[in-house]
Amino acid sequence: MVVSAQHLASAAGLRMLRRGGNAIDAAVAIGYALAVVDPCCGNLGGGGFMTIHMADGRNLFLDFRETAPRRASPGMFLDARGRVVPGRSLRSWLAVGVPGTVKGLDAALARLGSLPRAEVMQPAITLARRGFALQPGDVAILRDSAGLLASHQPAASIFLDHGRVPRPGWVLRQPQLARTLQRIAAEGDRGFYAGPVARALARASRRGGGLLDLADLRDYRVQWGRPLQCGYRGYTVLTPPPPGSGVVVCEALRVLQAYPLARWGWGSVRATHVIAEAERHAFADRNTLLGDPAFVADPLHRLLSPSHIEAIRAAILPDRATPSSQVHGGVVVREGRHTTHYSVLDAAGNAVDVTYTINTLFGTGLMAGDTGFLLNNEMDDFTSKPGVPNLYGLVQGSANAIAPGKRPLSSMCPSIVLRHGKPFMLTGSPGGSTIISTTLETMLDVMDFGMNAQQAADAPRMHMQWEPDRIDVEPGYLDPATASALRRMGYTLRQRAPWGAAEVIVVGARGIEGANDRRRPAGAAMGY
Ligand code: GLY
Repeated sequence: MVVSAQHLASAAGLRMLRRGGNAIDAAVAIGYALAVVDPCCGNLGGGGFMTIHMADGRNLFLDFRETAPRRASPGMFLDARGRVVPGRSLRSWLAVGVPGTVKGLDAALARLGSLPRAEVMQPAITLARRGFALQPGDVAILRDSAGLLASHQPAASIFLDHGRVPRPGWVLRQPQLARTLQRIAAEGDRGFYAGPVARALARASRRGGGLLDLADLRDYRVQWGRPLQCGYRGYTVLTPPPPGSGVVVCEALRVLQAYPLARWGWGSVRATHVIAEAERHAFADRNTLLGDPAFVADPLHRLLSPSHIEAIRAAILPDRATPSSQVHGGVVVREGRHTTHYSVLDAAGNAVDVTYTINTLFGTGLMAGDTGFLLNNEMDDFTSKPGVPNLYGLVQGSANAIAPGKRPLSSMCPSIVLRHGKPFMLTGSPGGSTIISTTLETMLDVMDFGMNAQQAADAPRMHMQWEPDRIDVEPGYLDPATASALRRMGYTLRQRAPWGAAEVIVVGARGIEGANDRRRPAGAAMGY
């Protein structure tokens, strides 16, 4: 079963499984295909996380997050008077972190895949060279970013039709990207981190006033490790350690384990109350204390310890919201909302869950020469200045300050749930900070509220991230009586347009269910 936010990428993954490839082969094929057919979010110029459960029992975590260039410094987004320069961390060459995607996909394939690189990359190369007809969902994303694309050549010449947003049916061809992909297929990650592609990146960055250079590309390394692991009502959750945000999922689950959510019911006052409070506390801890573990000592053991979890439960009042100002912590991280997530489960029981990103929709909008791919603006996920909101109104902590070679904190949460040691559920989402609550709530929807995969992907969601001190809800999450009861308890509620795009696989009583979130209609679940 494969699930991704773009049906052509799902089809590429399915093709690998049908040919006898494993979940890693399919995941790498989908990763490269999304770089072509979901260019807002899929990428070669960004980075991400891969959570893996192998059928032989190994649990692995691959961190291919971007790093700050070696010449980066904590104050690089400040002016001479120490003020954050609007836009510099988002729309300039300084915003670009050293891309990790190609090394990440290549490392996963080399270590755990079974098919040749050229074979898993073929669907992406063909889609880039021959093109594909845009569907209304693809056009809507281009329309959202038309201003950004129009102001950047060569992005405009690739994604716009003579300067205009293309119509559905228009064929998007990307011959330059096809050439870059072909080079990677032939040479592996050297085709990206050395040679003409690397030289084009370094040259464009230098000309554009950026920091990224050949040494940054040559020295980029992925990190292999173990996922963070926590138990919940007999399930085992595998989720990203820092710089990812799985600790929020685990902390909230540990708090929630004490409450009879299933008896209280989905969307009930009591369930919403304790989920909101668990999210409030866990977000406060994440935002204040966490950063790249290669640079700061993340207190994971303390945050997940029985005494800390008990202290959070004790602080949850039975009938009142706790004002966020009374919850210790300092600051909040709320990253860009645009990223993409996909999940793969093969017949042998290998499970691969991936979230990767160039941060905001179409990233910086910048491309280097004729490389054909967009560059990320992941540097904005760092703290530009502790305690001061950046362009998005984000306020971040000093554990997440910029340093050469450091990875910025991320909300990405590709997660796998095991039951009796076997994959039971794969889930994750794009959506900035709502990635974390979306991942958590899809798990609760299945594990506590008895939903199937599609119901969990589609269910309206809530989100509380400590600051701002309010619960965001999607339409349909609250009925008027529940909303009134929560307001009487002291909650501020805000209904927002739907967010995220959960891609969910559940191994249920009726077999394997895959579900693409109806919020991202271009996607598809495909299995056989
Ligand atoms: N750039 C979004 C994230 O990594 O959380």
